[in-house]
Amino acid sequence: MASIFFISFFFALVVKISLPISTIASKNVSASAVFAFGDSTLDGGNNNHIKTLFRGDHLPYGRDLPQHMATGRFSNGMLSTDYIVQFLGLKDLLPPYLNPNLSDHDLLTGVTFASGGSGLDKQTIEATSAMDLMSQFKLFEDVLKRLNKSVGEVKTRNLIKKAVFVVGVGTNDMLFNAYLFPTRLIKYANNVYGYHDLLLKNLAYFIQKLYGRGARRIIVTGLPPMGCLPLMVTINSFLPGPNWLKRLCNPKQNQQCEAYNTKLSSKVHSLEATLKGFEETMKGCCGTGQWEMGPVCNVLDLTCVNASKFLFWDAMHPTQSGYWFLAQYGIQNVLPYVTS
Ligand SMILES: *[C@@H]1O[C@H](CO)[C@@H](O)[C@H](O)[C@H]1NC(C)=O
Ligand SMILES: *[C@@H]1O[C@H](CO)[C@@H](O)[C@H](O)[C@H]1NC(C)=O
Ligand SMILES: *[C@@H]1O[C@H](CO)[C@@H](O)[C@H](O)[C@H]1NC(C)=O
Ligand SMILES: *[C@@H]1O[C@H](CO)[C@@H](O)[C@H](O)[C@H]1NC(C)=O
Repeated sequence: MASIFFISFFFALVVKISLPISTIASKNVSASAVFAFGDSTLDGGNNNHIKTLFRGDHLPYGRDLPQHMATGRFSNGMLSTDYIVQFLGLKDLLPPYLNPNLSDHDLLTGVTFASGGSGLDKQTIEATSAMDLMSQFKLFEDVLKRLNKSVGEVKTRNLIKKAVFVVGVGTNDMLFNAYLFPTRLIKYANNVYGYHDLLLKNLAYFIQKLYGRGARRIIVTGLPPMGCLPLMVTINSFLPGPNWLKRLCNPKQNQQCEAYNTKLSSKVHSLEATLKGFEETMKGCCGTGQWEMGPVCNVLDLTCVNASKFLFWDAMHPTQSGYWFLAQYGIQNVLPYVTS
């Protein structure tokens, strides 16, 4: 079983916090740990330990934390993941993995690998010197090794299975490469939607990597309405156009972020359906599963014993259970719109 939730940042932080909690609570499952990946919205202080200008390690950052201490969190106080670990009764704050004082015991309830300024596009990382998702993933693999050593392989596997993974990234990509320095968009014929596809492809790849390491409860956050971010409002007020010298949200940018979230949501749904139902998604049930179909998939071929475990029947076509999942997706997500 895999549960991958999509949370639109559009409903602001309240939803970002309350949706995973209510989902967890209503299913009455407890979580063993929280692991976070992504950008400044989830960075608990990793950037204090790497070479980058993007830091929250100085006041007034952190001024409303209990010790009025700038921990590296890009806020006056706690992040949503801090609230989540508190709610789950795991600890007070989700610590950054790069803090050298972290013990193996601290790892048992989770850490954050997120890095302010991170993104899904190489070009964003070049601009910010943040840790990209693959570097964050490598650190997660280090954690797996450390846990394996301290509590054993079986316990580690169970812990990961029952852990909540939070992934939040994408805003910096849009900020730097679509809005501030839109030269990146030339490659996409100045079409921001083509750029979305690149970002989502990289995000899906990362989610599959997490899944491959045993993650089964994954929360993915979307983009905020970027046209209303104070920075964007300011920039737009200087540009010639309807918002000149006015502090207004940019509805076009909000619309673009909403379009990204819609696409992300359906990508997450289809990833979830694929990952949840099937043990084998890379090859078909018939023969070697790599090329047989039509006349060459015949009674002379060996087939897999249980086709329900396979997404594909032959090298091209889904199994019945594959079609069932596709139908469910259509029934839940498309039918309500075409029939109402
Ligand atoms: C939730 O789990 C706890 C502990 O396992 C159990 O005592 C309780 O009855 C469960 N509640 C529901 C509503 O299933
Ligand atoms: C690590 O612990 C030492 C000694 O307690 C302390 O001085 C230092 O500030 C700590 N470092 C971090 C990053 O918390
Ligand atoms: C976990 O530790 C055991 C014993 O030290 C080792 O054999 C195994 O390869 C390790 N597994 C991983 C995934 O690191
Ligand atoms: C085939 O696999 C499905 C999905 O894993 C499972 O629900 C079903 O019980 C299996 N059937 C047999 C006959 O093993």
